[in-house]
Amino acid sequence: MKNLLALGSMNMSRRKWRGLLAGILALGLAAPLTIARAADVELSKEDAACLKCHDKEGEAKKLENGEVLSLHISTKAYLESRHNETSCEDCHDSIDAKTHGKTKAVIKSKREYSLGMKDSCLTCHKKPATQYQDSVHATMIKEGSDKAPLCSNCHNPHTVKSVKLVTPIAETPCASCHEDIFKAYSGDVHGLERAAKGKIAPLCSDCHKAHDVKAASLGDGVKDACIACHKDAVAEHKDWLPNTERHFAAISCPACHAPTAHRRVNLRLYDGKAGQQVSEKSGVPQFERLAQAADTKNVGLDERALWSMLKEFNQDGVDNKTTLRGRLEVRSGAEAHQLSEKSKAIKDCKTCHQAGAAAFQSVSLTIAGPDGRPLRHGVQKDVLSSLTSMGSVRGFYAIGATRIKLLDYLLVLVLVGSISVPLVHMTVKWMFRRVRAKVEAERRAAASASAGPDSPGDRRASDDASR
Ligand code: HEC
Ligand code: HEC
Ligand code: HEC
Ligand code: HEC
Ligand code: HEC
Ligand code: HEC
Ligand code: HEC
Ligand code: HEC
Ligand code: HEC
Repeated sequence: MKNLLALGSMNMSRRKWRGLLAGILALGLAAPLTIARAADVELSKEDAACLKCHDKEGEAKKLENGEVLSLHISTKAYLESRHNETSCEDCHDSIDAKTHGKTKAVIKSKREYSLGMKDSCLTCHKKPATQYQDSVHATMIKEGSDKAPLCSNCHNPHTVKSVKLVTPIAETPCASCHEDIFKAYSGDVHGLERAAKGKIAPLCSDCHKAHDVKAASLGDGVKDACIACHKDAVAEHKDWLPNTERHFAAISCPACHAPTAHRRVNLRLYDGKAGQQVSEKSGVPQFERLAQAADTKNVGLDERALWSMLKEFNQDGVDNKTTLRGRLEVRSGAEAHQLSEKSKAIKDCKTCHQAGAAAFQSVSLTIAGPDGRPLRHGVQKDVLSSLTSMGSVRGFYAIGATRIKLLDYLLVLVLVGSISVPLVHMTVKWMFRRVRAKVEAERRAAASASAGPDSPGDRRASDDASR
């Protein structure tokens, strides 16, 4: 330690040294030391001096915008916090002892004060800081949001506890801003299980991550989190749901597991070449402009309008790069958190596989916004069915290099639905027989190839999953 200190440049700030030391502590090199010292931490002289003025209940300051900033810092809570060995000045390094407390500082609002302090965490916590950088929350702040959380909105720096402790669900920092979702979550299978049994059941950050929070409908992050815990989920659905991977790719888990939720078809603009959802570039909004131009009466995009929008997105030379990918999902954020026990989940094929099914009555077109959250425009529901009757169907399909699978399937449904009832039954039977035969064949193939990675069954499965 001595050598290390001697090697250091003398003008390195105290904060940086503290940061380095904290880094070493965090690495666990000095873990026994921290444990031994945790019980008998004492305030440094400097910190005691700050707290002499600041550990006074009710002490507060009125800010420019009328808000009241409490100046009370509890010594007891500070000593019990994980920051008990961190000095006030590590974070408050711009305080001038000579004038502090004697003159009135001008502070516009709480948010402005927090923003001014936001970099104080970075020296000591590089990893969470880096993860946070690309999150939907941090991106929103860069775009000017005054509602998205900074580090200190989720962790009170003066009272922070170890994240290893199991805290009551209501104390998750996410609850304070996402109230509706928290309310729904607390009554669903996971919320109830979490409240009863602690950490085995997921809290917000187990499905969404804590720092690298991404827009929920972007990519497969949330679905992957479900499957990481429910390892047998795919296998268990295969027992009754044909083409499970395909269903999982086209239906969000809550669309079946929140049985009372309203559902909708989300047609997502998809970049076939890049293999991801198309996202709106920051500063050059074109989605809303194009959607409004194509839907001047604001009644929802019709088939031709949808087609002309796709054409616009395909203008930059790369042929048929942009396609639509359909996905069945629930309509509101709260509904995505009303998961119920498995016996209530939607199992009846007719819920979806029937002409005029309720699930397909609401349709929207989306693009990922600059922060990843979807920008939406309504689409007339007839678009799904009118595909059969109009001449432009072929053109519509030609736009996508890949075929639009959801529409594709709906096409079959509608065709089936528009003929006669007996035919429906026959066709459905025939279709499912085909599927069953395929599943059987795959099983047999998988068994005979002793489930090696090259067996046709496996290849198909991973093809499906990567769609
Ligand atoms: C780990 C960094 C850190 C440490 C250590 C720290 N503070 Fe703070 N403090 C902050 C941040 C960040 C804010 C801004 C609060 C916010 O964003 O909500 C703040 C705000 C404050 C405020 C304004 C009121 C409030 O709660 O927002 C006071 C007063 C204060 N700190 C005093 C202290 C004192 C006294 C100590 C030492 C006993 C201390 N702080 C230690 C980071 C720290
Ligand atoms: C002599 C009493 C006293 C001492 C000692 C003191 N403060 Fe303060 N502090 C105040 C008063 C009074 C205010 C409110 C000033 C105002 O209205 O602008 C304040 C305000 C603050 C604020 C709010 C933001 C700001 O800058 O006005 C922070 C943060 C803060 N003190 C931190 C500290 C820290 C850290 C220390 C120790 C290094 C400390 N204080 C020592 C009296 C004191
Ligand atoms: C001077 C270094 C330093 C600064 C600056 C600092 N921390 Fe810490 N922080 C620590 C140390 C040391 C610990 C306890 C050891 C650990 O868990 O890494 C800790 C622990 C934490 C923990 C609890 C981790 C756990 O589960 O044990 C959180 C959360 C945290 N800090 C958040 C913040 C936030 C938010 C800020 C900025 C407002 C901040 N820290 C600024 C040094 C620092
Ligand atoms: C949206 C809320 C939120 C924001 C913003 C946030 N955190 Fe966290 N943080 C959490 C939650 C929740 C956990 C606990 C995660 C867990 O249990 O795995 C956590 C854990 C931590 C930990 C301990 C575990 C670890 O990953 O090292 C540290 C340290 C920490 N946060 C620091 C920070 C810092 C620094 C920032 C700002 C750059 C920040 N956090 C921003 C919610 C947040
Ligand atoms: C069991 C996993 C899980 C847990 C736990 C969970 N979520 Fe979600 N969350 C989801 C899923 C799934 C979606 C929908 C994603 C999609 O569209 O495919 C979602 C969507 C969201 C959205 C976007 C809503 C919208 O308007 O589209 C937010 C915000 C969100 N969750 C916040 C939270 C918060 C806050 C908590 C904790 C109270 C939480 N989530 C707990 C799985 C979870
Ligand atoms: C200080 C307030 C605040 C806190 C705390 C907070 N969020 Fe957010 N979050 C927002 C705001 C504002 C938005 C954007 C509006 C919206 O989508 O609800 C947002 C958006 C999101 C989104 C993207 C929504 C979408 O459409 O996909 C997710 C996911 C999310 N938050 C999850 C979390 C999780 C998980 C936590 C806790 C670890 C958390 N938030 C804590 C304010 C907060
Ligand atoms: C087409 C509707 C549908 C979709 C999509 C769906 N599920 Fe299910 N799931 C069900 C039904 C129905 C059951 C109950 C099966 C039974 O009767 O045992 C179930 C059962 C489960 C179970 C309990 C398994 C057991 O037997 O213990 C879990 C866990 C589960 N699903 C997770 C998921 C996840 C994760 C996803 C998304 C990747 C998902 N489900 C997508 C309908 C669906
Ligand atoms: C941190 C691990 C974890 C994650 C992540 C997780 N779950 Fe769960 N889930 C559990 C636990 C634990 C239970 C309650 C015990 C049980 O029934 O398995 C549960 C229960 C369920 C049940 C009820 C099963 C039954 O037997 O009735 C369903 C359905 C379910 N989860 C679906 C999901 C979906 C969908 C997601 C993602 C959006 C998800 N889970 C994410 C751990 C997790
Ligand atoms: C929640 C709605 C929903 C439920 C419930 C549902 N499906 Fe589907 N199914 C879909 C959607 C959407 C597709 C289109 C997927 C794609 O190809 O993108 C689909 C596709 C299919 C396909 C065509 C796969 C292919 O190869 O193109 C078959 C066969 C099928 N489902 C059979 C069933 C059966 C049998 C059940 C009942 C055990 C069932 N589905 C339950 C929504 C559902």
